[in-house]
Amino acid sequence: MDKLFENYSLKKHNTFGIDVKARYYYEFTKSEEIIFFLKVNKISNIKKLILGSGSNIVFTKDFDGIVIHPKVPGIQIVKETTDFVLIKIGAGEIWDSFVNYCCLNNYGGAENLSLIPGTVGATPVQNIGAYGVEVKDIIEEVEAVNIETQEITKFKNKDCKFEYRNSIFKNELKNKYIITYVTYKLSKNPVLNINYGKINDELKKNKNKNIDSVREAVINIRNRKLPDPKKIGNAGSFFKNPIIDNKKTQELKKKFPGIVSYKVSETKDKIAAGWLIEQCGLKGKNYGKVGTYKDQALVIVNYGDATGNDIYNFAKDIQQTVYDKFGIILNMEVSIV
Ligand code: EPU
Repeated sequence: MDKLFENYSLKKHNTFGIDVKARYYYEFTKSEEIIFFLKVNKISNIKKLILGSGSNIVFTKDFDGIVIHPKVPGIQIVKETTDFVLIKIGAGEIWDSFVNYCCLNNYGGAENLSLIPGTVGATPVQNIGAYGVEVKDIIEEVEAVNIETQEITKFKNKDCKFEYRNSIFKNELKNKYIITYVTYKLSKNPVLNINYGKINDELKKNKNKNIDSVREAVINIRNRKLPDPKKIGNAGSFFKNPIIDNKKTQELKKKFPGIVSYKVSETKDKIAAGWLIEQCGLKGKNYGKVGTYKDQALVIVNYGDATGNDIYNFAKDIQQTVYDKFGIILNMEVSIV
């Protein structure tokens, strides 16, 4: 069933717990409902925001437009061979419940992405990733409704233009499509991806090496390093890890030998933003209502009743401090609305 609300509080719909209101809030559970809604209500001229569970967003003021929240349920195997299985999931399903389902059925590919907050529909938008895996590695197809024409469109993996924490849905198609289903391709003969050092270390504590133990290892690592948004408001990594020329990395290494970098191509390196922030003395700092998390400097936390602007201004201060020390620009991973 679909529902429309007016002057609706978004406090429970963002993991920072910021208390702002949406002029309109619309949720739906079926493609037909959103298609009918869009045909009857012309929303082309009002501001739109498609919101999953709000785990990657900072609201700085009331939203004077319509927030659309896909609650499409469902999990369906659409194809199965001896090697793989294609599973189509409703955009409103909780991502980690799906990962759990895959592990219970020994379908491999999603286990490294355990415990990432959010809904299935949001996973392609930001190409969620962790511990050496990105969701682009297992996405087969994304189904979405075109807001303007109300047509259902299917995007194959390559159409989504996936990049590090980025996709077509964050760029040229932003606010043009509403994702209703995602189809994932999982392996029935899982090959574990445990190259990420910390997973390997964690797995040494466990005799078994299978997708369940990888899930368990990831959950343990995340629980140690990342704050639970139910207990303390946050949106995971606030900034992206910057990608810089490797010449610049070499220069920086002379001055800062401990800098944490990973090669991403012949000319580019990715730098650990958490390390940069920590080196500026900003890890675990408490600035009243906001601060950085004690175990992971890349995570900004809401210690109380911070407003979106408190968080945004604090993030800008971090950007400036890191830039002054390292000459590196940190781009925000979360959306500022
Ligand atoms: N580090 C520090 N100080 C810190 C934090 C990190 O020195 O306060 C160093 C660590 O020592 C480590 C390196 O930075 O050598 C990388 O740290 P970590 O493994 O925690 O990963 P990350 O690069 O900070 C990224 C993702 C996370 C993901 C982890 C694991 C981004 C922006 N973040 O964080 O994703 O869980 O890798 O793969 O790419 C998210 O996007 O919200 C998120 C949590």
